[in-house]
Amino acid sequence: MRVISQSTTADLDAAPRARRRRPAARSLTGEDLTLRAAYRLCRRTTRQHDPAIHALIQLMPAVLRPAGWALWAAASVLDDLADQRDAEPAERAARVEAWTEALQHDLAAGTSTDPVRHALVHTALRWRLDLSGLQGAMISTRDDVHGRRFADWTEWRAWCNEGITPWVDQVRHLFEQAGAPMTLRLDRRVDYERFIDGAQLTDILTDLGPDLGQGLLLLPQEALDACPGAEGDLRQGRWSPATAALIGAMTDLARQWVTRPAMTTGMHPGAATVLDTSACLLRAQLDAVDAAGPALLKRAPRPSLVARARILTPARIRSRLAWSLTPLTVPGPRRPAVNASGPSPAAEDTALRPPPPRPDGARPPQIDADRMPSHVAIIMDGNGRWAEQRGLPRSEGHRAGTAAAHEMVYGALEIGLRHLTLYAFSTENWKRGTEEITTILEAIRRDLDEGPIRDLDVRQRWSGRPGKLPEELVRALMREERRTHARTGLTLTVCINYGGRDEITRTAAALAQAAQAGDVAPHLISEDDFARHLPHPDMPDVDLLWRTGNEQRTSNFLPWHATYAELHFTPDHWPDVDRRDLWRAITEYSRRQRRHGAALPSPPLRRSPRN
Ligand code: IPE
Ligand code: IPE
Ligand code: MG
Repeated sequence: MRVISQSTTADLDAAPRARRRRPAARSLTGEDLTLRAAYRLCRRTTRQHDPAIHALIQLMPAVLRPAGWALWAAASVLDDLADQRDAEPAERAARVEAWTEALQHDLAAGTSTDPVRHALVHTALRWRLDLSGLQGAMISTRDDVHGRRFADWTEWRAWCNEGITPWVDQVRHLFEQAGAPMTLRLDRRVDYERFIDGAQLTDILTDLGPDLGQGLLLLPQEALDACPGAEGDLRQGRWSPATAALIGAMTDLARQWVTRPAMTTGMHPGAATVLDTSACLLRAQLDAVDAAGPALLKRAPRPSLVARARILTPARIRSRLAWSLTPLTVPGPRRPAVNASGPSPAAEDTALRPPPPRPDGARPPQIDADRMPSHVAIIMDGNGRWAEQRGLPRSEGHRAGTAAAHEMVYGALEIGLRHLTLYAFSTENWKRGTEEITTILEAIRRDLDEGPIRDLDVRQRWSGRPGKLPEELVRALMREERRTHARTGLTLTVCINYGGRDEITRTAAALAQAAQAGDVAPHLISEDDFARHLPHPDMPDVDLLWRTGNEQRTSNFLPWHATYAELHFTPDHWPDVDRRDLWRAITEYSRRQRRHGAALPSPPLRRSPRN
């Protein structure tokens, strides 16, 4: 990461006045000019499509605005391709698909001949955005060409979640990458989802007239049925008491959904200003919808300039102040192409590096190959007590624990271990407070995005269930799994939302299904059959199971794999251990005698000397 100290090509557009005052430090290359033109086009597209979004992007720091325009323009281009009335639905779907495929190709190449994709690819590379999260949204836009009907709000919400949320999430990642996280606490997630629903409903109400002109009515049947007669009147372009009642009810609902004051609690004040202002603009838009009456069926209403200025003027002052207090960062130029279907491992792995040495120069012990464990699994316990003993909140213990986990990976690589499995969050840990859970999961997510493990020869995998885990964490886990799958050094499996009984239950279910399908005969099921249906069938048995934190239990960890593990319990709290403790554990293991139920061969009998 570097702290932003100078504007780059793309930022020049965002600060035209500053540029005019300064003599050109260097002449721009053809590539710079193409990029500037690409971003300028994205900016124009955003302003024309949605002036409110353009105004919101202006509340972002100058260095982030081009990325905001690129993301927005890409979404608009895809929407336009899906909407072009000159073509049949199948042709429009093919155009959306072709654009999406071209983006994947461009991401791999790191450039594009299409200006909007060129800006988007540059944005993804510059801010290390993983655009694979947009795949689902792009597919949803493609499928929109066939028209949509929703039976109820649940179906409507699923559509909204699929098509809109991933784009908003990219903006959140952007803020995070710049060091000003738009972090959502777990308990605010529902507020965030409602807010996005509200924004979408506002859009639908605004575009009601133009959409009806194309035969589209994007409200759920459940809502239409609540105002009998409204649907028929709307489809015939007739304003009636029933339509007025429907629109009134919908604007009330949207207003309620976008009013989520608690959503921005704990966020960076600059990011919070952008979200709060967007809520104000949406409410102003809903006022305009309310005020439009029958005119709503003819054209999209807009709030007055005065209403907008009343919201935007103080917001500009607030955001300028908030951003001036934060030195933003741009990630270093480390990673090459970020592919929409996963980056190319070969391209990424040219930059693999060895683990950093111990500052005290400690080196791993020599262990005979036949005495070396293949698989070490660790229950990383004692973070909370470590923090409490220091008068710190428990969350500090979890943050400190991350460094110990890095040490284990370094130590495992140095000693030549093949498999390391770390227990990071159990299915039972949901019993903890929301604050603590958020800290643990957020620390893991951050580490996946920018931790020092990324460039080591480590194949990363995740064991556990998505369940209630934040979506961005699940995406990051899957991304890292894809990105590192071809690495051959250490296999690191991190267990998150993992429960041993859950794993066994899922395996039993998979086996039952296989039996039902006739793939296995129930009366012949063997241990090998069971092992083949485990979520990670290639995970070897655990040789050494180590728990820190002075507890002697296994807490629902790897019951299938650890039945014959050598157990090792140590008193230190997790943040206090380092790779030397791993080496000690392995050394002790190498001295143990493992019998696996067999009797040891008896020592040779000493014969009495013959007379
Ligand atoms: C282990 O540390 C980390 C997790 C369970 C996530 P703890 O948080 O259990 O720490 P103690 O056992 O309360 O000290
Ligand atoms: C086990 O630790 C789970 C992890 C280390 C992730 P806990 O601290 O949750 O286990 P118990 O509650 O002491 O058994
Ligand atoms: Mg514990």
